[in-house]
Amino acid sequence: MEYTTLGRTGLRVSVAGLGCGGFSRLGLGTGKSEADAIGIIHAALDLGVNLFDTAAAYGTEPVLGKALRGVAREEVVICTKAPFGISAAGSSPERAVASLDRSLQELGTDYIDVYQLHGVAPSGYRHAVEIIAPALLREREKGKFRHLGITETAPGDPAHEMVQRACRDGVWEVAMVAFHMMHQNARAAVFPLTREHGVGTLLMFAVRNIFSRPERLAATMRELADDGELPRDLADNPDPLGFLVHGGGAGSLIDAAYRFVRHEPGVDVVLFGTGEVEHLHSNIASLLKPPLPEADRDRLTRLFGHLVGVGLDAPHLSPRTGRVTNG
Ligand SMILES: NC(=O)c1ccc[n+]([C@@H]2O[C@H](COP(=O)([O-])OP(=O)(O)OC[C@H]3O[C@@H](n4cnc5c(N)ncnc54)[C@H](OP(=O)(O)O)[C@@H]3O)[C@@H](O)[C@H]2O)c1
Repeated sequence: MEYTTLGRTGLRVSVAGLGCGGFSRLGLGTGKSEADAIGIIHAALDLGVNLFDTAAAYGTEPVLGKALRGVAREEVVICTKAPFGISAAGSSPERAVASLDRSLQELGTDYIDVYQLHGVAPSGYRHAVEIIAPALLREREKGKFRHLGITETAPGDPAHEMVQRACRDGVWEVAMVAFHMMHQNARAAVFPLTREHGVGTLLMFAVRNIFSRPERLAATMRELADDGELPRDLADNPDPLGFLVHGGGAGSLIDAAYRFVRHEPGVDVVLFGTGEVEHLHSNIASLLKPPLPEADRDRLTRLFGHLVGVGLDAPHLSPRTGRVTNG
């Protein structure tokens, strides 16, 4: 494993971080058992992963807590999040504090390394920074968490408006940002700011559905061609990104997707989500490989550098509990 420093938090973190949400939710979202999920976490630890990202909404805090029992607390960096909507106008700071306390309990830990507001929309940002953050920072004084972070709502804020504001406010030490081969606008819109202000970055959406489900990629390509955003011959190609896979290049599309984001200047940790041990191994191997050949990276930028908001689908949330229901 390789390690880096997560912005001005000073935390030493693995460049590969295990995401406990997304569609897989450690496999719990695809019908696997709690024992399987614990197996994924232990396999990640064995490979040197020390950063784990969960959330109240994922329902994976308890299994993460269980899996980490017996691991020295200072050996791991636990990131979790307040429920969605905590930053919406009218949401009380007491609710945020109650959720922080609940997360500590679910995780079975005395402190959280990075406590994040989850999926904050530009419209909720003012409430988040003026009302919710000050209340949480008072709890930080009591030792409940170490660093405050914020995650964007990628589908609702594809231009990264919220994170751009957050970088300049000095309150947030970590930001979670969406960036992938066909949604590259964080390169210009976000990473110069996170680097300038020492905001650590957790990268999400590297693969998601668009690069793990060939039919999704094909459908997206067709839609983009219909909209005049991509050349028709690319959309008609049965293997539109096949040019990335060659001797000296990527071994597979997913290998390409993780390597593409990993080496982007400004990216600290690439989160990946999986319920499959083999995927865990190959993803970490990809993240530790060198950058894609320059010619391939240039071609990805030429083809897709203008696209915004592609492939950012979110799991469904229960309107009643705010929890992820389909993984
Ligand atoms: N706003 C937010 O705060 C927010 C939003 C999104 C994500 N996140 C965080 O970011 C993390 C990463 O996002 P993500 O879970 O969508 O991760 P991802 O790595 O972009 O995509 C994971 C998807 O790809 C599949 N996959 C992974 N490796 C594969 C492989 N080698 N071969 C084939 N399929 C593979 C997974 O299914 P398998 O189970 O079959 O491997 C899963 O469906 C989340 O877990 C969460 O912690 C946060």
